[in-house]
Amino acid sequence: MLHKIFREETIRKPSFSGASFCAITLRDLARAMQIDYLANHLHFIPTLALWTYQEWHHLRPGDSVERRIERLHDESSGSRIPTVFVAFNGPELFGSAKLVANDMEIRPELTPWLAGVFVAPQNRRRGIGAALVRRVMGEARTLGVARLFLYTPTAAQFYSGLGWSLFERTNYREMDVTVMSHDLNPSTDK
Ligand SMILES: CC(C)(COP(=O)(O)OP(=O)(O)OC[C@H]1O[C@@H](n2cnc3c(N)ncnc32)[C@H](O)[C@@H]1OP(=O)(O)O)[C@@H](O)C(=O)NCCC(=O)NCCS
Repeated sequence: MLHKIFREETIRKPSFSGASFCAITLRDLARAMQIDYLANHLHFIPTLALWTYQEWHHLRPGDSVERRIERLHDESSGSRIPTVFVAFNGPELFGSAKLVANDMEIRPELTPWLAGVFVAPQNRRRGIGAALVRRVMGEARTLGVARLFLYTPTAAQFYSGLGWSLFERTNYREMDVTVMSHDLNPSTDK
């Protein structure tokens, strides 16, 4: 897990002076990063609402940052469905993922769903998305979920790398999407 982060690679990050650079390692990032329930860090909600609005507002007619703020408050809980997780280091938010009862109006019979997986662009390809997905899967397993679903227009390859399988291809909200599933028993974990 987090093999990319644990690799001792140097990344360069602007220092506070702006002119020079300080070096941090991905190992440092892994040590510092936490994943926890958004309910314990509600101050991240406005940033998360803005990021996810910018990424997905075209999928929801009438969407707004304010509505997303309300929804995130409604979905924030502890170990139950729905719940939202955030990955962060101190005040710096890296990304988020949710466990929700339904994410696709045309498939109400399928439940529950991994949804809203998002990592801030500057923090991608460091293992954070994979860690968030695994955290949601672990939570679902703890809650007794046997099978988890997701849909994605663009990231099927990311999820198949994490052990997810094709469930169906369909058209949803005028987009071609891939619906995927993951059986949550230990032998199927990747
Ligand atoms: C998709 C997303 C969550 C991935 O997050 P990330 O932190 O960059 O992913 P990771 O670093 O954990 O990547 C894990 C593996 O998946 C691969 N991967 C990452 N993004 C990928 C993508 N979009 N397509 C295919 N593979 C991808 C990585 O190369 C890595 O593979 P490796 O372990 O063999 O090196 C992130 O790009 C994102 O937020 N995108 C915008 C929102 C989105 O598309 N969400 C998911 C779809 S609904």
